[in-house]
Amino acid sequence: MNGASMAERALREREARIFIRRIAVENFKSIRRLEMDLKPGINLLIGPNAGGKTNILEAIYFLYKAMGEGIRSPYMPHIPEYWDPIDILYRRDTSNTLKYTIELEHYIIPREDEEIYVFYPSIHIEFSIAPDRSTLIPVKIEYRFGNHTIITFTNSYIESRIKHDLFETLSTKIPDLVENISETAIRVGDYIVIRHEQEHRSEQWQMFLIAPIISIRYSYSEPLIFAGSLYTYIGRRPIPFIFKLAKSTIKEVRGIRTRDILDPFMSYRNIFRNILLLKHPDIGALRNLKPFMQSERLDPRATNLASVLFALIGKRGRIPERIDYALSRLFPGTFIRIESKFGQVALMAEESGIVLPPPNLADGLFKILSILTAVELNPSILLIDEIENSMHAEMLEYIVDELDALSIPVIVATHSPVVADLVAPDKIYIVSRKPETGTVVERLEDPEKIRDKLKKLGVSLSDYIFYSKTRR
Ligand SMILES: Nc1ncnc2c1ncn2[C@@H]1O[C@H](COP(=O)(O)OP(=O)(O)OP(=O)(O)O)[C@@H](O)[C@H]1O
Ligand SMILES: [Mg+2]
Repeated sequence: MNGASMAERALREREARIFIRRIAVENFKSIRRLEMDLKPGINLLIGPNAGGKTNILEAIYFLYKAMGEGIRSPYMPHIPEYWDPIDILYRRDTSNTLKYTIELEHYIIPREDEEIYVFYPSIHIEFSIAPDRSTLIPVKIEYRFGNHTIITFTNSYIESRIKHDLFETLSTKIPDLVENISETAIRVGDYIVIRHEQEHRSEQWQMFLIAPIISIRYSYSEPLIFAGSLYTYIGRRPIPFIFKLAKSTIKEVRGIRTRDILDPFMSYRNIFRNILLLKHPDIGALRNLKPFMQSERLDPRATNLASVLFALIGKRGRIPERIDYALSRLFPGTFIRIESKFGQVALMAEESGIVLPPPNLADGLFKILSILTAVELNPSILLIDEIENSMHAEMLEYIVDELDALSIPVIVATHSPVVADLVAPDKIYIVSRKPETGTVVERLEDPEKIRDKLKKLGVSLSDYIFYSKTRR
């Protein structure tokens, strides 16, 4: 068996999980520069009105619009949320570049009882206003695999930088890689640099930057190292890479499960595709009959809830257990079903023998169904604004527990003291905005100490946060 097929077989026998562990954003609305470490379960944003909580959620959601929706023509990721792409930029200054750094934990999990491996890629993306000012376009996308391979795409070149010493130790084992490299490689510092220039064809940038990789071929693998080449839409030249893995010390792997293990870049695209934002449901729209639209995404106002649930129930053959159970606890005696007629769908409930159409249902029912449906859609990260709307304390408590137990990050904005008291203090971010710095986030200092101290004083954590920490 040759090296390539051995490498690919070794990978096929595994699965992967990807967790977004850190996000940095620059120049999005009120955000000048912001960094957030994320934990699995709830990461809670608390702060005064107009502090920038919703902006943080929208900044992350923008990544879905710009990187996850696929190639759309014309490319206008600001639509329909914003009037003008300039409105997205910090202080509407077009000389600002919108930048993201997304740091991931990427676990490779064997089927058998072997070691779990992990690598820590980070993705750096920059957007600028287009020359005709009609949209925001990506101008640079960079993937870093530790410091051993860095692959950069811009609309004038693709570059792969591989750590020289790693390359040297592998060069006898991977003739394929060496062949690809030797022609064009130059040595820069600790790196072997392979750069393919590409003539600037402006109409091609979308294909090139958003969907840059056609295929990936492994030529070598051992438990800790995978090497091979990427093939892209342009250039026709393979781009070499080496991924180096480490043995994971984490026993409980977290994040979204991905099957595209042979193509990590495809998995990263799935990460963007599965970013979900939920604002308070548009209850008015939900009470009307809606045409059935085949959709596996819930829109941010949950207006397509009936369609999405209908598709989900169709696929699974039943209402997801998580939803069934929550209803039995929070709306005992109520059963829901989706009725479809003449291409229209409606969310119906049955309550002690009577059938209720959407205009007769409680707001809280729409709310809980939209959140739990979002969870069932397997998001890579779930963003929920103003979670408390329409929820009584008991329901809030239920849903906070449910979300906090997830293995993906759930970023939740709230003004509710109930929510603040339910979440561990080290999962709370205080969000504020100052004229000089824009929106900033801080963690509570020494959260455990604060909790203890407050307990002794008989003050709740929420009192402390809302009345001393976030008052101007
Ligand atoms: N392009 C921009 N540049 C700079 N600041 C902006 C820009 N767009 C919006 N803002 C600021 O963002 C603020 C709104 O922030 P956001 O909606 O995130 O607040 P919030 O914390 O969610 O508040 P609330 O609790 O009331 O919902 C606006 O009041 C404005 O000051
Ligand atoms: Mg808000």
